Amino acid sequence: MYRTATCGELRLCDCGKEVTIAGWVQRSRKMGGMTFVDVRDRYGITQVVFSHEINADLCDAASKLGREFVVQVTGKVEERASKNMNLPTGEIEIIASELKILNKSDVPPFTIEDNTDGGDDLRMKFRYLDLRRPAPRANLELRHRMAFEIRRYLDANGFLEIETPILVKSTPEGARDFVVPSRMNPGEFYALPQSPQIFKQLLMVSGFDRYFQLAKCFRDEDLRADRQPEFTQVDCEMSFVEQEDVINMFEGLVKHIFKYVKNIDFTEAFPRITWADAMKYYGSDKPDIRFGMKFVELTDLVKGHGFAVMDDAEYTAGICVPGCAGYTRKQTDELTDFVKRPQIGAKGLVWVKIAEDGSIKSSVGKFFSDDDLKQWAQAMNANPGDLLLILSGATAKTRKALGELRLEMGNRLGLRPKNQFAPLWVIDFPLFEWDEETQRYYAMHHPFTAPNPEDIPLLHTDTGKVRATAYDIVVNGTELGGGSIRIHDSELQDTMFELLGFTPEKAQEQFGFLMNAFKYGAPPHGGLALGFDRFVSMLAELDSIRDTIAFPKNNSGRDVMNESPSPLDPAQLDELKLQLQPLDK
Ligand code: AMO
Repeated sequence: MYRTATCGELRLCDCGKEVTIAGWVQRSRKMGGMTFVDVRDRYGITQVVFSHEINADLCDAASKLGREFVVQVTGKVEERASKNMNLPTGEIEIIASELKILNKSDVPPFTIEDNTDGGDDLRMKFRYLDLRRPAPRANLELRHRMAFEIRRYLDANGFLEIETPILVKSTPEGARDFVVPSRMNPGEFYALPQSPQIFKQLLMVSGFDRYFQLAKCFRDEDLRADRQPEFTQVDCEMSFVEQEDVINMFEGLVKHIFKYVKNIDFTEAFPRITWADAMKYYGSDKPDIRFGMKFVELTDLVKGHGFAVMDDAEYTAGICVPGCAGYTRKQTDELTDFVKRPQIGAKGLVWVKIAEDGSIKSSVGKFFSDDDLKQWAQAMNANPGDLLLILSGATAKTRKALGELRLEMGNRLGLRPKNQFAPLWVIDFPLFEWDEETQRYYAMHHPFTAPNPEDIPLLHTDTGKVRATAYDIVVNGTELGGGSIRIHDSELQDTMFELLGFTPEKAQEQFGFLMNAFKYGAPPHGGLALGFDRFVSMLAELDSIRDTIAFPKNNSGRDVMNESPSPLDPAQLDELKLQLQPLDK
């Protein structure tokens, strides 16, 4: 037996016991005739004492232990003279009688503690060492517990976990595919699945009724804090359901996990907002509703005063920021710079300060009288002490910019605490999205999403207005998951492909197997997928999903530990009948 106890379990009640522990040397300190060694494993840290008086050789050997050596120690548990109440094992220590070095270690490139001296890149290069630190370990433990509990909930509700293939057919809708060349079929490629979407629909045709999978998905897209090229979905599908059934089932799952992990009870139904209202009030299809500052439209109110920016604008709206009338010139200039950043794209910012004494100051005081500005304040429900921030321009772009400004103000005012959670459903998404560049419609969710039955007559006449039976679950401004009721009728699916610009041949080539399956009695069905990494990072209160993944990629999609992606051996390329183009410098 390598050990009789872990490094996290011994307490005062164990005093007097002879135990053996095994783990890594966190730290070793020599003090007079004693050497203190902290031994760490997955469960905690235990202090081991080597006394020169009791065993001089052993004490000398202990004083030579390096950081991260793997050791096995046997000894007696005793009450500590000076207790460390910050450690669960801090009231005891082991008086060592035996020490065995199971393995030596090079000096690690950074200290393996929560307050590490290792930068991001270094820790990613030595990720296996980083994972010895308590915080990353806790994230993976949480991930495990959540996965386990999700499986328990879904199993109890009759869902079957079924695996679907990883080598699939390339269907370039949505993000870019990662592709895999086939040696046995030269010149042909598999794709890695962006999601198991088509397979789960086929499982419904097969009669599996309630399916789920913790599914690896792969998307070749630009990376951000909440995006990895490979990530995990809690992917689900149900037959004989309507939107309400799907929403209820997965609201139940999300509530269950919040209760289980965070002991947070959501007793009320999650609020729902239509996509149109989300854009109107928050400028985003994933609003953070932990705080207010909803948009108020001022388009008509501000026209006709000789201020060209507002006179010519399709849309003007503002937010009322409570208690910020005291903002200095420097602070409002900062906000102006913020909205002018290329990624936000506003041309400028109008502000109005309503002082505590009711007097008004504004960046557009030249064009508007105090009475005009008071009207704005009234429309925006402002109180003395508030700051109004107003943007003008093309509707969609301005809403997006104002949405970013709203989040910025939420951050500045500390209104977005990570330990407060505000889930909601966004429903009634548009079915299609128009792309100026390619001059065609794209499916906003995916091409299998059913139109809202009320809007079917508009499919050909007012395509852009058709609402989808699609829903997203949003928490704290992050899209946690999304899904839809699917088209199960092959004629309607044909229409959808036609509107998306597929010729019948192209649709047959790409999705023929699904369309054929639908000819053999497809049940009405729908489902949803939750971003599992996002769910874990939210509950772990992290900034990036990277920290919830054992071996993540960096923002350039690289694994700096194993240095992938990497060039292929010419022999491998030959075998695959692949030739590389010269790289652009
Ligand atoms: P969707 O594309 O909305 O839907 O994805 C579902 C959820 O997956 C998460 N997600 C990601 N997480 C990390 N990194 C990424 N690159 C990434 N991309 C998406 C998000 C998102 O809400 N097949 C449909 C679901 C369905 O209709 O049932 C789908 O994949 O949290």
